[in-house]
Amino acid sequence: MTDQAPPVAPGAYTGPSRVLSGVQPSGALHLGNYLGALVKFTRLQHEIDTFIFVADLHAITVWQDPAALAQQTREIAAAYIASGLDPDKATIFPQSAVREHAELAWIFQCVARLGWLDRMTQFKEKSGKHKERSSVGLYTYPVLQAADILVYKATHVPVGEDQKQHLELTRDIAGKFNHDFGIPGGAPVFFPQPEPLIQGPGARVMSLRDGSAKMSKSDPSDYSRINLTDTADDIAAKVRKARTDPEPLPETIEELAARAEADNLVGIFAALSGQTKAQVLAEYAGKGFGTFKPALAELAVEKLAPVGEKMRGLLGDPAVLDAILAKGAEKARETAAPTLAEVKKLVGFWGA
Ligand code: TYM
Repeated sequence: MTDQAPPVAPGAYTGPSRVLSGVQPSGALHLGNYLGALVKFTRLQHEIDTFIFVADLHAITVWQDPAALAQQTREIAAAYIASGLDPDKATIFPQSAVREHAELAWIFQCVARLGWLDRMTQFKEKSGKHKERSSVGLYTYPVLQAADILVYKATHVPVGEDQKQHLELTRDIAGKFNHDFGIPGGAPVFFPQPEPLIQGPGARVMSLRDGSAKMSKSDPSDYSRINLTDTADDIAAKVRKARTDPEPLPETIEELAARAEADNLVGIFAALSGQTKAQVLAEYAGKGFGTFKPALAELAVEKLAPVGEKMRGLLGDPAVLDAILAKGAEKARETAAPTLAEVKKLVGFWGA
């Protein structure tokens, strides 16, 4: 036996664990954002060093009113804090305040391949029929997302299921960068290949009007989503009016999976109450929506109405939010700058 640490396998990443994620300030936050992302951030901050930002650089890939953008950024920060993120534990900051994101994104644009981006389904969905009228930024969006993550060498990324493909691209970019510019000798590698944290019944919340469409900020029907700023009455009314079928809830997950709207409401109940769908079915199988919907409405109001209330309180004092964002940006820069300096050295830039 020796007292030396065991050798690191070639290709292993040996840096500390770190969580990073973000939300775009491009419209009101809804239950999908809350369950797919915000709730997870709050849980993780107690376990791992956590960086959570407001993705304002990503937001401008589609038009944002300059007169409203800064306030939208504060709203996301307020939602983070209202849902339990503690600015003394997690680093909360606006993406545009840390220029290292954009600088690393350029270098990654020269690492990522055109074919990789051509496969991104979210660009196809967002650009629609007129892709030639989309901004170039909308196309290279996932490259900036890779830079967001890797400039902090984040190892874990809590997101909803719709971000899975972007996370795969991030892993590919990290792998190619390590291969092309890695420190000779192999181990340890420069960038981690971050793990997406997607699991759980809240990873894909569907529209309350259509169980086959994702709950989304851009759905024209406000009844399709529960907004974090909805009042208790609005939340209850939206649950009451949610589309369902006439059958009672089934016994098994397999039967539930064949009924999109029922599956969605059971998933929401499970995520809000911290249970699995099977546990929810164990309590409600055989009962109709006349029983289930009021129980869900009560639970949703109990969990969400205080978040909206707290958000309104925080937004009443923008100076406090601005101070939190400024302090977070300073801390984020301290972490991002050394990574970017090392990257520039590895790439071979003059003076790096
Ligand atoms: P954005 O702003 O579209 O969404 C923020 C988060 O909410 C999740 N989400 C959902 N989860 C469950 N059900 C839904 N219906 C639902 N709708 C949205 C999203 O998966 C996301 O986690 N590209 C990101 C922002 C981003 C980012 C990053 C995230 C930029 N850079 C780096 C992680 C790491 C986005 O568009 O989020």
